[in-house]
Amino acid sequence: MADNRPIGVFDSGIGGLTVLREIWNLMPDEGTVYFGDNGRAPYGTKSKSTVIRYSLQNMKFLEEQNVKMIVIACNTASAHAYHSLTRNSSVPVIEVVTPGAIAAAGTTRNGRIGIIATKGSVNSGVYKEAVERYAPAGTKIFQQACPLFVSLAEEGWWDNDITAAVCREYLTPLKEEGIDTLVMGCTHYPLLSDAIARFMGPDVKLINTGVAVADVVRDTLNSLDIASSGGGEVLRAFYTSDEPKLFEDVASPFLGRGLPAGTKHFSTDRYEV
Ligand code: DGL
Repeated sequence: MADNRPIGVFDSGIGGLTVLREIWNLMPDEGTVYFGDNGRAPYGTKSKSTVIRYSLQNMKFLEEQNVKMIVIACNTASAHAYHSLTRNSSVPVIEVVTPGAIAAAGTTRNGRIGIIATKGSVNSGVYKEAVERYAPAGTKIFQQACPLFVSLAEEGWWDNDITAAVCREYLTPLKEEGIDTLVMGCTHYPLLSDAIARFMGPDVKLINTGVAVADVVRDTLNSLDIASSGGGEVLRAFYTSDEPKLFEDVASPFLGRGLPAGTKHFSTDRYEV
């Protein structure tokens, strides 16, 4: 039966927009409610227990918006909090690590895959394990935490000299390992994909997990028979725990005219979890 309730999407900030955009592209009839926890970002340097608490609070907020599904559009939150969310959520929960891992495993030709992610995701080992699960035996995996990429993305410095210098610093070891596939294992990183691609060169395929995640969202809606029937007005709501204007200034160039004015402020730390 059609379900016209919106899909809830959250991230620590603007990184989840790289997933949201792919959801819009693939499923233009689906309404969405996006929550960016910019006021408490970054998640990638925080402890597991803190990321779980923040994620549960974000989940509660989205449930109150009457969503039919929650997409954790953040690899760090997916790595640390997916199981806590699925245990507590009243609606299906989609995480972003597995789709990216499957895409990477199916892309490599030389069996050398790089993963760039936050410190939290790298240290959790969840991404590496997921790629190992799906990649051919003998695949070599190289991980690199790139914490400054999140600040560059949030600042809107997506492709300038400073970003190029930071890419050189973080990515040189991966280039030297001769990887042919690089997973952008943090939803903020696709915002920097021009700078990353230029440094890595044309022989390295970048995996933007947003595309793979949107496929999983569509397949899940269809298999549960809860896709929208379309036809009505499509909700596109945005909330941030920081200043709405700051959020819109950085998000607008990325979403183009897709970002309606009227982002609202909301702090999810009021929820007891
Ligand atoms: N966008 C997030 C991720 O995918 C986290 C960035 C951060 O807050 O550190 O991991």
